[in-house]
Amino acid sequence: MDGVTDVAFRHIMATHGHPDVVFTEFTNVHDICHGSRPGWEPLRYSECERPVVAQIYGKDPALFYKAAHVVADLGFDGLDINMGCPSKNVATSGSGAGLIRTPNLALEIMASTKQGLADWASGQTLAELGIKKAAIEQANERNANRWLEGNRPPRKLIPLTVKTRLGYDTVVINEWSDCLAQGKPEVISIHGRTLEQMYRGEADWEAIASAAKVIQSHGILVLGNGDIRSLNEAVSRIQASGVDGILIGRGAQGNPWIFQGNELIRKSVLETNPPSLPEPSISLETRFQMMINHATLFESFHESPRFPRMRKHLGWYCSGFPYAAVMRSNMVKTNTAQDVQRLVDEYMSQHVLTEAEALSASTL
Ligand SMILES: Cc1cc2nc3c(=O)[nH]c(=O)nc-3n(C[C@H](O)[C@H](O)[C@H](O)COP(=O)(O)O)c2cc1C
Repeated sequence: MDGVTDVAFRHIMATHGHPDVVFTEFTNVHDICHGSRPGWEPLRYSECERPVVAQIYGKDPALFYKAAHVVADLGFDGLDINMGCPSKNVATSGSGAGLIRTPNLALEIMASTKQGLADWASGQTLAELGIKKAAIEQANERNANRWLEGNRPPRKLIPLTVKTRLGYDTVVINEWSDCLAQGKPEVISIHGRTLEQMYRGEADWEAIASAAKVIQSHGILVLGNGDIRSLNEAVSRIQASGVDGILIGRGAQGNPWIFQGNELIRKSVLETNPPSLPEPSISLETRFQMMINHATLFESFHESPRFPRMRKHLGWYCSGFPYAAVMRSNMVKTNTAQDVQRLVDEYMSQHVLTEAEALSASTL
């Protein structure tokens, strides 16, 4: 998620929640190929995140061909094409969800990306494509990949996946899925809203269920996405829609613990009448420690002028405990991890909570 799933966030998710797979923020193919430093920023990752998938977007097949080489060369475990972003800048220019209106171009982009991944796997170098080595070196160094010191793992073909929406202004997901299947991605992920809906209303899981049948008939995996905020919702959505898995976006904001239930979900979906699953209950102490850890990690990955980007995460952690609203309004003014620590210390010295209050900070 753009502006959310940065390297510090994904590191926190990986170490405290262990999602089965994580995706980077979407990155423009033009920025990847012509490589400014900020353009490369979303492609930083740390080893603990694996499997980690780079999500890219754009509308020029030739740039996707090159960008595929870069993504593979940086050691990502998969490449996801964004065909779902509704933002005006992206979609009206024909990228993101704009591609729903140009299915032939979408297929051309998929073919070109696949070819890029295949050519890279069979030995083509970035230098042959005229991609600046300096930019690659910088990114590799920043990704803490030690390949430039001679530890490069063997080249392998990484999978191509696609993430999309139900349609542009109307629901066309069955026809659209049939079209996408011709491009033979390994996985199609569907957010159950149209572009026009943006994030309004509820995700339409019946439409996802219908498309799941179409996609699975082509032997392709399908992941459903939209409005899942608890383990029990995950189980019932998977069972009712028949998808192969789900993606959680906003439900993970301020809540890495949600992914601790993956194993429970996997077992539950196999049962005809699954029992209600216990949602993770996180003590206030654990929650506060997470805020301090996350802020400290953010500082270690980014320089301090970027700290304002961390504030929203701190706000998301502040819910479900006494005086959470006051704490939230203080947290969104912080400038350093030290400020976060100070606010936590102040809270602890000012409030005497009952045992139940301290233990019951809800994640929902
Ligand atoms: C702030 C924000 C940024 C997002 N950025 C991306 C993105 O870069 N790529 C993408 O595929 N989806 C992006 N999304 C959409 C989410 O991945 C997801 O499809 C949507 O929020 C619905 O799922 P949820 O209800 O679990 O959050 C973004 C959503 C939000 C709220």
